[in-house]
Amino acid sequence: MEGSSLRHGQAILVLLVILQFTTYIVLSSADAPFDNQRNIEYIRSSCSSTTYPRLCNRSLSIYASRINTSPRLLVHTALNVTLKASISTSRLMVKISRIHGLKPRVSAAMADCVEVSGDSVDELQQSKGELDRITSSNFALTISDIQTWVSAALTDEDTCIYGFSGKSMNGYAKTTVRKRIIKIAHLTSKALTLINKYASTQSSLP
Ligand SMILES: *[C@@H]1O[C@H](CO)[C@@H](O)[C@H](O)[C@H]1NC(C)=O
Ligand SMILES: *[C@@H]1O[C@H](CO)[C@@H](O)[C@H](O)[C@H]1NC(C)=O
Repeated sequence: MEGSSLRHGQAILVLLVILQFTTYIVLSSADAPFDNQRNIEYIRSSCSSTTYPRLCNRSLSIYASRINTSPRLLVHTALNVTLKASISTSRLMVKISRIHGLKPRVSAAMADCVEVSGDSVDELQQSKGELDRITSSNFALTISDIQTWVSAALTDEDTCIYGFSGKSMNGYAKTTVRKRIIKIAHLTSKALTLINKYASTQSSLP
């Protein structure tokens, strides 16, 4: 009799554990998609005010759960994404500039692109560094520095593209540079819009 009631007790315990576990699974799987839907919506609506809403949404929505609905994390992630893409573009510029047999004018334009794309990487890195140091008391000044760095990066990207204007520059280098730099410029422009919005809606840290 004693053995049977022990087994009975164990069975109930096992049942309770299973019940708790399934309740846990049901609750957490019901919670997660709901929360992430709100996060994805936050990114979509933030991106809708940028010049390239689809690129913005596409490049940031994969980070939705990390960004949550924080404007600071949104800006931070936008800078991260832009910086990463600009580093790989800057490396590509170096590679293209080393192609043998480029026309002298193309070669000169490439040399400029190598220089300004390197500057652009530095400027984006600077702005990320500033964002890491931002506090409630230095908010306005630091945001204004970040706006300056990111605008400078955008100007550098435009300078590279401008160097290839004119039909005589047509060819592989121009096509590749334009495609890559324009993408970076769009990412940078989007980051700047999000930063400007952050600056105008917050007067201090959130
Ligand atoms: C934004 O991205 C999400 C997730 O990738 C997608 O479901 C949604 O359709 C996109 N919205 C727009 C307006 O591009
Ligand atoms: C930005 O990138 C750095 C690594 O370069 C990482 O440590 C950080 O968590 C990223 N920030 C966001 C908000 O994703």
